[in-house]
Amino acid sequence: MSDYLYRNVNKVTTNILQLMRNQDEKIAMLTAYDYSLAKLLDMAKIDVILVGDSAANVMAGYKTTLPITLDDMIYHACSVVRAVERALVVVDLPFGTYQGNSKEALHSAIRIMKESGADAVKLEGGIEVRESIERIISAGIPVMGHLGLMPQSINKFGTYAVRATDPKEAEKILSDALVLQKYGCFSIVLEKIPAHVAAQITNELTIPTIGIGAGNQVNGQVLVLHDMLGITQQFSPRFLRRYHNLSEEIIRAVGNYIEDVKKCDFPNDKEQY
Ligand code: KIV
Repeated sequence: MSDYLYRNVNKVTTNILQLMRNQDEKIAMLTAYDYSLAKLLDMAKIDVILVGDSAANVMAGYKTTLPITLDDMIYHACSVVRAVERALVVVDLPFGTYQGNSKEALHSAIRIMKESGADAVKLEGGIEVRESIERIISAGIPVMGHLGLMPQSINKFGTYAVRATDPKEAEKILSDALVLQKYGCFSIVLEKIPAHVAAQITNELTIPTIGIGAGNQVNGQVLVLHDMLGITQQFSPRFLRRYHNLSEEIIRAVGNYIEDVKKCDFPNDKEQY
C-alpha cells in the first residue's frame, strides 16, 4: 500500500483532518457499530470511523434511521471506542435529540462524549440547527455537519433520490455549508448530490468535505461498511462500490458448517477434549 502523509500518526484528530485537506490528502471514512469490525478498520488505518445512525437500518433492521435512540447510539459508540486506537471516532446524534432546542442538543452530545469516550459528534441540517451546533462546540465538543440527502428528514423529502438537482436547492446547500463552517463545524458530510455541486461547495469551504454519492471533487469519502463489504444485499445505489461479496461467503461458510454438523463430521478427533 502506498505511503500516505498521515498514515503513521498515532491518533487522527480533527486538526489532522484539516491538515490532510490543506495538503490534498483524501480522508477515508467508514461506518462501524461494533467492537470486532471497528478493530479491523483501525488495523487497516482508516482515518475516521463513523458510528452512524445507519445502525438503525444495518444493525436493527428498521426501514429508516428515525427509531434509533440515544441509548442505542451510546451502546454502539462504546463498543467501537473500546476497539479503536488510531481513527477519529465520530458518533451520530440520532433523530429527535438535537433539533428541538440547543440545551437538549448539548445534553445529548455530552452524554455521547462522556459515556462512550468518542472524539466528535455528527448531526444533520443547516441553518435550522446552528444554535445547537454553536452550543455543542462552545462546550468543547467537535461537530461534523451533514447536508444534501439527510436520512433523518426522509419524511420531509419523501424519497431517497439525489438532492440538489435544481439550482435553488444547490444554492441552499452551499449557503448552509457556509453557515456550518462559520459556526465551527470541523467537517461536513455531503450526501447524494451532483458531483459539480459538491465540487463547488468544497472549493468555497476551508474545512474538509466528505462525500457519499457526491463525486470525487471532495476532500474525502464515506461508505456504510456493510454495504461496501457486500453484507447487505438489498441496497444498490449507483454510488456504492462493493469491495467484497461477504454475504455469499458467509452463506457458503454457514452452509458448510450445517453440512458438517448434520453428517457428524464436526467436531473431529482433533477438535474435542
Ligand atoms: O449514518 C450514516 O451511516 C451516515 C453516513 C451515510 C454518512 O450518516
